[in-house]
Amino acid sequence: MSTHVELKKVTVPQIRAKKGKEKIACLTAYDYPMARWCDEAGVDLILVGDSLANVIYGETTTLPVTMEIMLAHTRAVSRGAKRALVVADLPFLSYQISKEEAIRNAGRFLKESGAEAIKLEGGLEMEETIAAIVRAGIPVMAHIGLTPQSVHALGGFKIQGKTPSERDVILENARAVERAGAFSVVLECVESALSLEVTRTLSIPTIGIGAGPNSGQDSADGQILVTHDLLGLTEGKAPKFVEPTGQFRAPLIEAIQAYVTRTKGTPIGGSW
Ligand code: KIV
Repeated sequence: MSTHVELKKVTVPQIRAKKGKEKIACLTAYDYPMARWCDEAGVDLILVGDSLANVIYGETTTLPVTMEIMLAHTRAVSRGAKRALVVADLPFLSYQISKEEAIRNAGRFLKESGAEAIKLEGGLEMEETIAAIVRAGIPVMAHIGLTPQSVHALGGFKIQGKTPSERDVILENARAVERAGAFSVVLECVESALSLEVTRTLSIPTIGIGAGPNSGQDSADGQILVTHDLLGLTEGKAPKFVEPTGQFRAPLIEAIQAYVTRTKGTPIGGSW
């Protein structure tokens, strides 16, 4: 008798159905081993975020990432995610130029890299694009509030929704992405009361990151974090809202140091 257990994939309708019933745990992964660890730990949704520009490639913004880079990383993550839903981030300028290009690039993630959905940044201005991608049969996760691809237009990485007019814009953006057919929406660095208001207004799940207590967990239907921040693997300071559940950078360096010490301690020429 086979002991092999078939693991069923989490689906887009299942993510939607969790609203109001069960919190949604999301994390980023950029490679096969991290996807395996997240999957084994029971994460519902893995995002291959364009934050890999910062985390993996050492860039200061997400702007330099290309479709080819995102496709290669998404392929590796898809192989590792036996259960979690895999969502791939559309990189800067892969969806802003025309709806046709947006559909083509979104479709490449499903055809060439095994993703099950895509994410893109923007609200009202992206309503038609999201609707067009959804009509092509591609599930879309939206992303509003602090949208890092617009860092220069926003004037930096800061909390969004502090003034009444900013609040109105965020609420309008939230309604627009829901109308367009997005299956969920990331609220990044949105002031906590507003995040809660958006969560209560929408019928689709909101996924918080830096959007209130517990990084948005308390004011949204779920939470997403950059896994390297969560695990204390990041060089320098992680964003203030992250509460790491591990500190693995120092022990990792110590383990490598032990190897360096052992290697350098071996007599030159050996004993043979
Ligand atoms: O690129 C990314 O990792 C993201 C999440 C932080 C939401 O967009």
